Amino acid sequence: MSSTRFAPSRALRGSLRPPSDKSISHRAALIAAMGEGTAHVNGYLDGADTLSTLAAIEKLGAKVTRERNAGEGVLSPPGLTVWIDGVGLRGARSTEIDVGNAGTLLRLLPGWLSGQVGERWTLDGDESIRRRPVDRIAAPLRQMGAQLTCREDRLPPLEIEGSELRGITYEMPIASAQVKSCLLFAGLLAEGETRVIEPLSSRDHTERMLKAAGASVTNEENVVAIQPVESLEPGELLVPADISSAAFPLIAAVLVPGSEVALEEVGVNPTRTGLLTILERMGVEIEREREVKGPGEPFATLRVRSTPLQAIEVGGAEIPLAIDELPLVALAACFAEGTTVIRDAEELRRKESDRIETVTAALRALGGHVEPTEDGMVIEGTGGLRGGTIESHGDHRIAMLGAVAGLASKEGVEVVGMDAAAVSYPGFERDLASLTSR
Ligand code: S3P
Repeated sequence: MSSTRFAPSRALRGSLRPPSDKSISHRAALIAAMGEGTAHVNGYLDGADTLSTLAAIEKLGAKVTRERNAGEGVLSPPGLTVWIDGVGLRGARSTEIDVGNAGTLLRLLPGWLSGQVGERWTLDGDESIRRRPVDRIAAPLRQMGAQLTCREDRLPPLEIEGSELRGITYEMPIASAQVKSCLLFAGLLAEGETRVIEPLSSRDHTERMLKAAGASVTNEENVVAIQPVESLEPGELLVPADISSAAFPLIAAVLVPGSEVALEEVGVNPTRTGLLTILERMGVEIEREREVKGPGEPFATLRVRSTPLQAIEVGGAEIPLAIDELPLVALAACFAEGTTVIRDAEELRRKESDRIETVTAALRALGGHVEPTEDGMVIEGTGGLRGGTIESHGDHRIAMLGAVAGLASKEGVEVVGMDAAAVSYPGFERDLASLTSR
């Protein structure tokens, strides 16, 4: 296991284009595989999770051609340029799929596969994937007529036998873009309309991309409805930088005095920008430059400077809009004045690690005052962190949180298991170094 030390840093300066969006890349590959003809994805994320998705669609019969792109700007983002010849909505062949560490692949793919009569699939993954619940998709898919079996009726491996599906109305108990997307994929193959009711809005990349590919999708007041289609035509897609990855250098710049950083081409879909509104409430000014509103996903350069922070309460509708960034909110809260409360975020317990436990353990190991609760954390701002050693527990976002904490700490942070960062942020250490070394 790799171990890396992140020393206290001088001010961060400069600009960079963070890696492409993981959620959008997964969906682009899956929808392209469902499509007819060749889809072209520009700026596909070259991370371990999204490479698992390319490998999966290849096993299902799609043809994938890839080219590495150094990244020279807006129309030539870093990552992969991929051409995908789809198998069509009903053309995936029976196989065993290794989803690796990718929870999104594990939850989205069964929606598409369930409705293809006469074929069978098994989905399995790494040790962490084997702890990620799939009953949240299995229950509604079974209501649609899907035939699924899983370990202890809750965990992977997941076996799917394709069958005829019928549309349902499903009220989700939790806001989850993964569950919503899975059911929308199943709805493409079902008889009649499928309606998904969300308790709170979650990321809407699937809805946008399916519409662009010719599906009939509506979204009114958190009721997303989809009609079955004969075929999809995905065409061209440009993947912006991932706001969830940009969040790491962004928080580093907020916390290290004297910093000013610009993060380019960052996706600013309003269902993903919860961190920006949370930071604004904590006192940070985030400037948006060179905003491109569409067609496709909106993106902008985000400019941020180091700022003293105020403690806040975070909960309710803000949670799904910032779910993957909440560990960084907890880190920032250690530097804020006052006590920050994060609530309504029990879902954190079901991510790549139990992020209420792993964030609490990491921040405490560095001198932070954090109390875990059932559905969040209470963080007492102490003006900074001492430093120390943390473990990533194989969770990419915990590894990168440790690195950012190191730059902003008094004594530096050793991160055990830093290699986990490659799941979503290839070149993470190089990017951080580019902002700290002059
Ligand atoms: C994702 C949705 C979120 C998020 C995950 C990616 C997606 O999970 O935490 O990292 O791409 O749909 P949930 O939808 O389960 O909350």
